Amino acid sequence: MCGIVGYVGQQSPLDFLLRGLRMLEYRGYDSAGVATINRTNSIHVEKTPGRIDVLKKLVLATKPQGHIGIGHTRWATHGLPTKENAHPHLSFDGAVAIVHNGVIENYQSIRNQLTKKGINFVTQTDTESLAHLIAYYLREEIDKFGKTIKIEEMLPHVVKLALSQIHGTYGIAVLFRDYPEVMIGAKLGSPLILGVGKTENFLTSDAATLAGYTDQIITLSDHELVCMTANSFSVRHRDEGIVERNIEVLDIDPSQVDRGGFDHYMLKEIFEQPEAIQNTLRGRLDHDSATAKFGGLNLTPQQMLNVQRILMTACGTSWHASLVGEYQIETLARIPVEVEYASELRYRNPPLDLNTLLFAITQSGETADTIAAMREMKRRGFPTMSICNVVGSSIAREADGGIYLHAGPEIGVASTKTFTSQCTVLALLALYLGRLRHLNFEAGRKIISALEKLPNLVKTALATNDHVKKVAEKYAHCNSFLFLARHFNFPTALEGALKLKEISYIHAEGYAAGEMKHGPIALVDAVTPSVFVAPTCYVHDKTLSNMQEIKARGGPVIALITEGDQRTTEIADDVIELPQIEEFLQPIVYNIPLQLLAYHVAVFRGCDVDKPRNLAKSVTVE
Ligand code: AGP
Repeated sequence: MCGIVGYVGQQSPLDFLLRGLRMLEYRGYDSAGVATINRTNSIHVEKTPGRIDVLKKLVLATKPQGHIGIGHTRWATHGLPTKENAHPHLSFDGAVAIVHNGVIENYQSIRNQLTKKGINFVTQTDTESLAHLIAYYLREEIDKFGKTIKIEEMLPHVVKLALSQIHGTYGIAVLFRDYPEVMIGAKLGSPLILGVGKTENFLTSDAATLAGYTDQIITLSDHELVCMTANSFSVRHRDEGIVERNIEVLDIDPSQVDRGGFDHYMLKEIFEQPEAIQNTLRGRLDHDSATAKFGGLNLTPQQMLNVQRILMTACGTSWHASLVGEYQIETLARIPVEVEYASELRYRNPPLDLNTLLFAITQSGETADTIAAMREMKRRGFPTMSICNVVGSSIAREADGGIYLHAGPEIGVASTKTFTSQCTVLALLALYLGRLRHLNFEAGRKIISALEKLPNLVKTALATNDHVKKVAEKYAHCNSFLFLARHFNFPTALEGALKLKEISYIHAEGYAAGEMKHGPIALVDAVTPSVFVAPTCYVHDKTLSNMQEIKARGGPVIALITEGDQRTTEIADDVIELPQIEEFLQPIVYNIPLQLLAYHVAVFRGCDVDKPRNLAKSVTVE
């Protein structure tokens, strides 16, 4: 989704802006631009549809001057991805430039009002109305008070006035032609982080862009506005005036955000999974009590015992991880779990028991639907927990308590290591809840032992990479795939299908294997492979029957099996063998070859793996 960067300091802003925008590429975008203020005090804008490389060429050709600038990657919501609609947007008089993430819901009425005042609109975006509004109030303010009012008072004041007129969400960075030393940022519902340097300050929508520039950050809260120069900054809250904010230390090593020798971030992140899972488990296994422990749940064991029902809400891959959690918690802890798409829950009013606990599950912590669903549940008085990767993200901060994944930054648009870390956290949670209820010490000990083996099992799954690549090559020409599995691995099949479709643009459907005969079997033909997740388990024979049904109709079968499973090897066209593993952890290990399969198929088809079309890493609009 859209990304923002801003720089004010002693250097040219272009190094940070262009590197930042390149890092934000992974979030998905269709156009990009930068604005700087040059020595003649005019705002210089370069913007273009397409990739950051194109923008970089434009910028380097014109060599803009100055020490302040803002940049943006746009994911179109209002208006086509054209040069005109790309950010930054200038005000009618060229006095203000703005970049914006979010959606201005009442932009049409602002547009109508300003048009009546003679202001001409040149784009179809919602953001342009805000640029004009700020410039309009700035003029009014200068007309009223002339130069008698302090800049550091006036500029926040006019931005606040403009923001008070809009309904919707925003993260913005604003430049002023006549005040080339000042930048303003503000946020409501879209992330914005202030990076504090020695003689320079930064704004960004993604803290990872600051790695290598500064590790001193302030994560702005909703309704906060920052006014910054090279040597100073002040944060104001809409209702409270100037507020003191503590500086936090950003814990991202620059090496975590490069590709580390891999061709794509996605592949790097797939191979980071043993370490990511190790980090997720670290400090959370309590051998003495044969249970799991969490620092941030903020609920006592007594309060946890009163929980009668768990509701999980999420989107996309995080929704699939939640389904895995449903199987894990219902099996190990015997607590009823429901999993709702956040985009549904936010507008539904399901009847819920009083003792329901909500978990919002999200990599980014910024997904608009998940935030809204969690807020709705909070409003109804239910306690809310987050399971989140990005520290300090909106959901992590707004939830009553939560568990971080500690999987490290995930840059590839396709979630990989965060899916397996989410499933790991949910397994830990199932252990914890189970031990509060009926699981005895010995059962807890066995679960801990299985969890401890997980990083090595994932390494073994990664060792299938060369073989999976060959399988991918064999089937990369196919235009439709089925992914089938039962029980714990039903969500694994859903996730396998999502991974393939999002990065290779191949039609793929995930189905419960037993449900396949009620419709999807009509799709089976010689060029529609069925990928079965078929480890040995108590429903294995049933899965084999489904496999036979596909074979009987001429469909190719790729099967992920427990090593040495001769019966399945004889039926399937291709097998990928994995070690024996406890059922509740199978989705984690069996997901790995599916990630690799999707990755290699996409590469064979020449797709842009890390930046798939139309997709965004973090979906911050509805
Ligand atoms: C999956 O590969 C995608 N990245 C997408 O489905 C993602 O899981 C979804 O948008 C939810 O994102 P979140 O986990 O950051 O909330």
